[in-house]
Amino acid sequence: MITQEQKEITKLDVNKIRIDFPILNTNIYGHSLVYFDNAATTQKPNQVIDSISDYYKNYNSNVHRGVHHLSQMATDRFEEARRTVRDFINAESEKEIIFTRGTSDSINLIASSFGKAFVRKGDRVLITAMEHHSNIVPWQILCEDREAQLDVIPIDEKGELIFEEFEKLLDSDVRILALPYVSNSLGTVNPVKKIIEAAHSHGVPVLLDAAQAVQHIPVDVKELNVDFLAFSSHKIYGPTGMGILYGKEEWLEKIPPYQGGGEMIHTVTFEKTTYNELPFKFEAGTPNIAGAIGLDSALKYVTNLGIDSIHIYENKLYQYALEKLSSIKELTFIGEAKERAGAISFVIENTHPFDVGEILDKQGIAVRTGHHCTEPIMDQFKIPGTIRASFSFYNTKDEVDRLVLGLNRAKQMLL
Ligand code: ALA
Repeated sequence: MITQEQKEITKLDVNKIRIDFPILNTNIYGHSLVYFDNAATTQKPNQVIDSISDYYKNYNSNVHRGVHHLSQMATDRFEEARRTVRDFINAESEKEIIFTRGTSDSINLIASSFGKAFVRKGDRVLITAMEHHSNIVPWQILCEDREAQLDVIPIDEKGELIFEEFEKLLDSDVRILALPYVSNSLGTVNPVKKIIEAAHSHGVPVLLDAAQAVQHIPVDVKELNVDFLAFSSHKIYGPTGMGILYGKEEWLEKIPPYQGGGEMIHTVTFEKTTYNELPFKFEAGTPNIAGAIGLDSALKYVTNLGIDSIHIYENKLYQYALEKLSSIKELTFIGEAKERAGAISFVIENTHPFDVGEILDKQGIAVRTGHHCTEPIMDQFKIPGTIRASFSFYNTKDEVDRLVLGLNRAKQMLL
């Protein structure tokens, strides 16, 4: 139920917004582009593209290393980006914001550094059955290395976590729980606050993979009381190769550096190295300066539209898409959780998702097909993959109608 106050803040001027995204004017095979692959990567507004170009044209220089003017400028903008991220997720301090290469890199950092400090033989690590491979493989590598055990919280046929099973798995041998806020292939929004509270009641810290959440849902790390949170710039309208790891300062102080190199050191001799303070202890080598500057612009862009307004607009579009797609009787949704966001996955009778994806592509409609880097989910549903449409605030109901038309055409050709 949307209140009057919510209605007021949902007034996103989508036609105006679309002008900011030059790629949305593209024609594909003579059709105007309908871009429904936003869970894979979002398109970039001029504000982001221009800020990156401005950096390279006007103040390209390394950060934290030079006393000269350009280096100071680059450092100021780079550190401004860190403060923007801090404010965006409401972290306590910029010491808690680590720049990484992306969500996978952030998770690998924690699996490696937290693992070294806290995971021993016989310990357990908990993940869920709805993970992206990025939140499985780093923990598998860790568990193999430490002779620890990886346990998986099951999901039901709707694609929801089975909370009672989760509670059964929680005990004093569990060192960490890692789970997605929003599933990239099912769209399930997990009740993360309740899950974090339950984990904490057993002294278990929690890492949230928020790669599919921050662009759709207001995320407040203090309110969630989450210990670690990872997301990628390119899924929230920023450039690729740039990511964020949030960690509570108390945890980040306790875990060792991930990689060695410049910037992460305080002093180096051949006998001994002492490490830099947070957040630099985790940022070895020249960072992705343009990436940080682009992410800064992207988060300012999203903040300017209002993440609450985005959430409400996208939710309405999502419900509209569900309703319209339901009119195709050969279509089966994969994942029907009560709370969903971002992506809708489905199959059409016994057609192969790739074939449907190709026919949609010829009509200018971009969706992702396949296992979406979540092979265990596909195994659970006994399918090779799905067709996935994933949404942004720049998508419209007309585009959803084009998707439905396109699917009907695919159906005629394939069934
Ligand atoms: N993780 C991205 C997706 O779900 C690439 O498509």
